Amino acid sequence: MKYGHFDDLNKEYVITNYETPLPWINYLGSDDFFTLLSNTAGGYSFYKDARLRRITRYRYNNLPLDQDGFHIYIKDNKTIWNPGWQPTRTKLDKYECHHGLGYTNIIGSKNRIEVKQELYVPKNDNILLDRVTLRNNDKKKRSIDLFSFVEFCLWDAQDDTTNFQRNFSTGEMEVVGSKIYHKTEYRERRNHYAVFFANKKIDSFDTEREKFMGLYGSPAAPQAVLNGKCSNTIAHGWQPVGAHHIHLDLEAGETYDVIFGLAYVEVPERKKFIKPGVINKEPAEKLIGKYDTDKKFDEGLKTLNAFWDKLLSRFEVSTANEKVNRMVNIWNAYQCMVTFNMSRSASYYESGIGRGMGFRDSCQDLLGFVHMIPERARQRILDIAATQKEDGGAYHQYQPLTKKGNSDIGGGFNDDPLWLIACVDAYIKETGDWGILDEKVDFDNKPEVADTLLEHLRRSFNYTLNNLGPHSLPLIGRADWNDCLNLNCFSKHPGESFQISGPSEGPVAESVFIAGMFVKYGKAYANILRHLGKDDEAAAAEKAVAAMEKAVLKDGWDGKWFLRAYDAFGNKVGSSTNDEGQIYIEPQGMCVMAGIGVESGEAQKALDSVKKRLETKYGIVILNPAYTTYRLNLGEISSYPPGYKENAGIFCHNNPWVIFAETIMGHGNRAFALYKKTCPAFLEDISEIHRTEPYVYCQMVAGKDAPTFGEGKNSWLTGTAAWTFTVLTQGILGIQPDYDGLKIDPCIPSNVSEYKVNRRFRGTMYHITVFNPDRKQKGVRKILVDGKEIKLGVIPASTKKEVDVQIVM
Ligand code: BGC
Ligand code: NOJ
Repeated sequence: MKYGHFDDLNKEYVITNYETPLPWINYLGSDDFFTLLSNTAGGYSFYKDARLRRITRYRYNNLPLDQDGFHIYIKDNKTIWNPGWQPTRTKLDKYECHHGLGYTNIIGSKNRIEVKQELYVPKNDNILLDRVTLRNNDKKKRSIDLFSFVEFCLWDAQDDTTNFQRNFSTGEMEVVGSKIYHKTEYRERRNHYAVFFANKKIDSFDTEREKFMGLYGSPAAPQAVLNGKCSNTIAHGWQPVGAHHIHLDLEAGETYDVIFGLAYVEVPERKKFIKPGVINKEPAEKLIGKYDTDKKFDEGLKTLNAFWDKLLSRFEVSTANEKVNRMVNIWNAYQCMVTFNMSRSASYYESGIGRGMGFRDSCQDLLGFVHMIPERARQRILDIAATQKEDGGAYHQYQPLTKKGNSDIGGGFNDDPLWLIACVDAYIKETGDWGILDEKVDFDNKPEVADTLLEHLRRSFNYTLNNLGPHSLPLIGRADWNDCLNLNCFSKHPGESFQISGPSEGPVAESVFIAGMFVKYGKAYANILRHLGKDDEAAAAEKAVAAMEKAVLKDGWDGKWFLRAYDAFGNKVGSSTNDEGQIYIEPQGMCVMAGIGVESGEAQKALDSVKKRLETKYGIVILNPAYTTYRLNLGEISSYPPGYKENAGIFCHNNPWVIFAETIMGHGNRAFALYKKTCPAFLEDISEIHRTEPYVYCQMVAGKDAPTFGEGKNSWLTGTAAWTFTVLTQGILGIQPDYDGLKIDPCIPSNVSEYKVNRRFRGTMYHITVFNPDRKQKGVRKILVDGKEIKLGVIPASTKKEVDVQIVM
């Protein structure tokens, strides 16, 4: 069942049934000010850091669901309603929510009054705008009361939900005309406040939640809205809110609009007050003045639209499949940008107060956005590398505000360092910017031990070699990509963190997955060295890679598939000899991507086993059979009920590894069939089963052992976005940035006869057409550049503005 439809022309998803299985959200903001916004106008705003500068409150896991946000209330005689349906949940006559790129429009109508909310965060300003337009579609004059409402968070979202003995007494507000200022803690150490304004004259306001809602009141029926007016309250302590009230008499056919705005404002320390207790409102006035007319509002929106059009135009595909086109050209790329902005911090599943930026997460996200924002990708690489430890190991997370490694979680996740090679390699291939390798970058954020980025890669590579186990396979440490396979943890106490309990340096537990990574990214590292003319070092690296390949085929091969690991006792994990968890997806995908066993036959056997043992109609599960009991030697993975998360869920992140592997084997039909299984646009028709947004990937879909098989969870912030974008554009469509140019090597379904791609690459726009007259799955036989045939291989990077490329398979 569908709850809306894609509007590809306007790059929107249009929701027409407000009772979506879960709140379906969008992200507004692309610089420092962000808002999460659901299809019923739920959500929250923050500045830069979802924990430390939370502007409005949001209660996760509340009942009813998704009550906090940016709701507009309408009182029309005895009826009260919201254009986004929530929180009154008054039935609407008409409803539409248009989630677009960086903006959302919500339209609701009831008894011939239509209300439209247009929300966006403009480029380069710290403000959420919400233009509300009312239209009287009746034949007679109508009398309406309009209310805005937001609830302020007292800045630190963690403290806000725990430290009530203090924060029930700290709240402070000021109101001037239509501007409501939230200034809690500004009197002391803060130099920032929030302002919630209307660009029109208001009739009343409230800043005390209790007064607006009524004693023991509810957002479903606020007392002020029922009364048809606010009480002009100024909050002292308790819960400061912002509510505007405007009374309207609308003639038949008349429209009225008002722009509401929620801004974050900083004031220089010595200019904080204009007189004792009165805050300096000048910077707020200035910011508001940029968006206080319809013309300025429309211009801001136009700039935002142009920004997104430009970003997305860097990769545009035109195939016969509209679902593929809309994912590549719009939604998958958009999701990659959201992971750039958010990492794993704030979604409807990530509370914004838990995790910082993940080392491996950020490195992998880069694979999906590097072609859109190469300059910012460069900075991201340098920030990540600066947290690397001197021995080549990595802090597992770092804080976006301080950009320092997080010592609470520490290091010892032994795959982390290799992801740095992965993202630097992708960056150089995209940009040709070899100079980045000469940049001096701190180790552990200490300038005194800074060295070149190349040296960082060297230490990443050597970190694996310095941490080998009894089978000459890499030691796993706390965990590898699979955070929940904790082989050195042995946790017996409820509540103990699987991530940081137990030693990180187990001397026995080994990971075949890291071995595969080492082969794949070790080859990339050797290529980089060779390119720099460091032939001896390159040869030594290649030797180490070859030795690892041998070790995998000797002790990392189970007969029909790649083994997952050896545990702390040297026992096999992911083997046919195990009672449960006999086969895992990760090493099958990674080892084949690395080219292990492609010549000698193991690769094909491994992929056959994936098909037989792990594939389901909704994608490939992470392991099989699911663990039915808790295993001390395995950790968190066995803590989940069968079919969920890392215990045999469909982890969307590593499905593309198998798809990549299939393209390496030349299986275009199979690769595309697998792609479709987890791709949200292909699941739109079963939204009642899949439940998460049909326009973005989610982290996990319940696996075949789960009672809710097919149900998605944890949408938006997942490495799935980057990996599926990469596998579709590079593996299937075959457009592969390479050190010296663009390599085009499609692996497509055999029924595809032709497709076109516009691909911006190092300043040149490549207009590429791929012809497949013989209906092959792989293999290029002819390349024409601007009409002239060139030899097969990489198309050298051009200095022209535009280049025409024709590929014949
Ligand atoms: C989740 C993982 C996650 C880890 C770290 C686990 O509970 O299942 O997906 O990587 O926590 O936050
Ligand atoms: C989510 C984490 O963010 C990621 O780093 C990890 O690889 C996966 N979970 C798998 O456990």
